[in-house]
Amino acid sequence: MNIFVLKELYDNRIPLSSDTIKVYSSLNTEILFEKNAGISSYQSDDDFINAGAKISDLNGLQNANIILCIDIPDENIISKFKPETILIGILKPVQNRNIIELINKNNITTFSLEYLPRITRAQIMDVLSSQANVSGYKAVLTAASHLPRYFPMMITAAGSIPPAKVLILGAGVAGLQAIATAKRLGAVVEVFDTRSAVEEEVKSLGAKFIKVAGAREDASAGGYAIEQSEEFKRMQSEMIHNHAVKSDIIITTAQIPNKKAPVLISAKTVNQMKKGSVIIDLASSTGGNCELTLNNETNVHNGITIIGNSNLASLVPFDASKLLAKNYLNFVKLFLNNGNINLNFDDEIISSACISHQGKILKSL
Ligand code: NAI
Repeated sequence: MNIFVLKELYDNRIPLSSDTIKVYSSLNTEILFEKNAGISSYQSDDDFINAGAKISDLNGLQNANIILCIDIPDENIISKFKPETILIGILKPVQNRNIIELINKNNITTFSLEYLPRITRAQIMDVLSSQANVSGYKAVLTAASHLPRYFPMMITAAGSIPPAKVLILGAGVAGLQAIATAKRLGAVVEVFDTRSAVEEEVKSLGAKFIKVAGAREDASAGGYAIEQSEEFKRMQSEMIHNHAVKSDIIITTAQIPNKKAPVLISAKTVNQMKKGSVIIDLASSTGGNCELTLNNETNVHNGITIIGNSNLASLVPFDASKLLAKNYLNFVKLFLNNGNINLNFDDEIISSACISHQGKILKSL
């Protein structure tokens, strides 16, 4: 049984670590990896070789039973896959529909791990959670490094400095980690989310929860937010404006699965914010929570730095890779037994994450 790990072109992370290579070996599975595949995550070829893996060029794909990647590979690489190989990644199939169709023509089984169900048994494979956690942490550090002010309160002989005010929009996995990190740095933190269930978690981290009455919630949405009424959006926008103009840092993480991210910060609000303030928009890849966000860009508008980056986990590549590697391994262990593959489509984890199998695309893309 061979697992081939591709080198990422646009991401510093890799879903492989020395620790997971050793576990794969104990499962009678050989790991092949592309030269320098781990270099951007500070894992050398020698680290992987010493753990039991082998370097291979892309011709090794011809013998691979399973291929691991983060981003969906390009057509040139896909053309080297043999039929019935299993491809596992964070493939964004809706955005990459054409490539998924091509993969499917070659009878490749694809699993996209962002489709894993949010159930307890799947937590050990949950790439969205493990990476959102890293992103929330890095968002605060990135904001701190751009802010022309201190985070903590300082009382010095030269005068007193008040603590930075941080507003966090969306208290999911990334938002909760951002709260914890900002608190550790000494900021005063306020948080808003449409899901009332997070109020207790926010308070337990020492932050203030801002409430807007009348939010729509849906218990069947798997813990996710749903779209809000126009009246709620108006009240929310007014309330966010009032808090935003007093904030030094805003970290936005608000997303709704398979929908454009809600715009929570208008250009008018940005224009009235304090000069030097920083907005980190983690929802930029799905449209952004700030009207002025540019995805994958930093722009300074009227003295406010706006950073649109939904992939900050890639900037903590060593630990983010370690976590991803564990997530992927736990997923593979579901169907790999003593060197044999057994895909059980009655298992909700397998069926939810599967995008294509035996020449059929199983999701409406
Ligand atoms: P996400 O990345 O989809 O969204 C981030 C946050 O933004 C959410 O808390 C959401 O309620 C909030 N949001 C959406 N629209 C908003 C708006 N208009 N205004 C303010 N906030 C808004 O969420 P994430 O981090 O992936 O997780 C959401 C929830 O999923 C978790 O809190 C948890 O309940 C559940 N979950 C369950 C897991 C499990 O059981 N395996 C693992 C991870 C998450």
